[in-house]
Amino acid sequence: MNLPAKNEMLHEQRGRFVSDGVASVTPLYVESAKGAIIKDVEGKEYIDFAGGIAVMNIGHSHPKVVEAIKDQAEKFTHTCFMVNPYESVVTLAEKLCQVTPGDFPKKAVFLNSGAEAVENAVKIARYYTKRPAIIVFENAYHGRTLLTMTMTSKVKPYKFGFGPFAPEVYRMPFGDEVGPEKLHDFFIQHVNPEAVAAVVVEPVQGEGGFIAPPPGYFQELAKICRDNGILFVADEIQSGMGRTGKMFAIEHWDVEPDLITVAKSLAAGMPLAAVVGKQEIMDSIHPWGLGGTYGGNPVACRAALAVLEVFEEEGLVEKAAVLGEKMKAQFEKWQQQFAMIGEIRGLGAMLGLELLKGDNKQPATDEAKQLVNFCYQKGLVILACGSYGNIIRILAPFVITDEQLEQGFAIMEEGLAAL
Ligand SMILES: Cc1ncc(COP(=O)(O)O)c(C=O)c1O
Repeated sequence: MNLPAKNEMLHEQRGRFVSDGVASVTPLYVESAKGAIIKDVEGKEYIDFAGGIAVMNIGHSHPKVVEAIKDQAEKFTHTCFMVNPYESVVTLAEKLCQVTPGDFPKKAVFLNSGAEAVENAVKIARYYTKRPAIIVFENAYHGRTLLTMTMTSKVKPYKFGFGPFAPEVYRMPFGDEVGPEKLHDFFIQHVNPEAVAAVVVEPVQGEGGFIAPPPGYFQELAKICRDNGILFVADEIQSGMGRTGKMFAIEHWDVEPDLITVAKSLAAGMPLAAVVGKQEIMDSIHPWGLGGTYGGNPVACRAALAVLEVFEEEGLVEKAAVLGEKMKAQFEKWQQQFAMIGEIRGLGAMLGLELLKGDNKQPATDEAKQLVNFCYQKGLVILACGSYGNIIRILAPFVITDEQLEQGFAIMEEGLAAL
């Protein structure tokens, strides 16, 4: 009797027991992963241009991170920081306060996921300002909880059928389509600035399509915030941890946010997120007002401390900048070669390719899906994003070798030529 292959067996079993509401880009079931390579349960290897959606910036199973996790797991895995505190939260908070932009005293709070960090940033901003409203942007992505889903822009799949939504969330156009001067108009047309607690913005929009606004945009936005007593919250969950060639993307605009949210690559896959911000804002909350059972889990915090050490030792921010240059050069070549390619989007190693079709340049959504599937068949994991799903994005680990990068590009090129 021929048994079905292991991937197929797992997929069938998953179909019976895992909610259909959770989907996957590929049907490969992972057995192990190292650096920029994922191996599936049948022993096939894939080059990873997705990094588990911007989580594996330092690469899969980095020995220092594995060692830190093992060491901590043997000591203790949980006491709850709110019951019995421990050292790793304290040292990690200090490190994060040092590496985040802002030449002022800062403090941090730890949570479990990006969405939870954004929720907490909003709680803190509302508490501190005593104001209700939050401004977010078109194409924004901030998560899937009630509040962050409301703050997220794209309807399907994120919001469709999941309403009613949270109140007091106002949406601005983003970036160069509008220009900074139009931001002033928003306060005439949509919301009283005196009712706004915070502007929450991704310095480079991630799920929305790798969109970076023009020079000067964030400086202007920060000025409007300052003039109106509104907090500037940078959601660096996807753009942070070196991805754009600076530790945090907002540094490209020389803006010091009041609060920053960090998650994803912070702990190389261990669930950990943080809000880091101005001390007086972070300390305005009454004791027990912030927290959660698992926030600042000791294994996750030790992993994050190892990540920060590796960043320094291996010069990973500089590596990301170099990787970004290589990607840009390749994308520019393709832009000349393939009529289908529109804009090259993003910053540093957070770079996307816009796919357009027809004389009137419509988003090539189906073709982007085809390309993702083609790459998967050929041994490359890659993702699409954007409001129309037509942006092919690369979020490869910074430790990817030149050979792996070239191999991945060769597969993408073959796929682009086949569209
Ligand atoms: C900018 C941004 N904010 C928030 C989130 C939500 O993070 P999580 O999926 O950990 O809740 C994401 C996830 O993609 C993100 O990219």
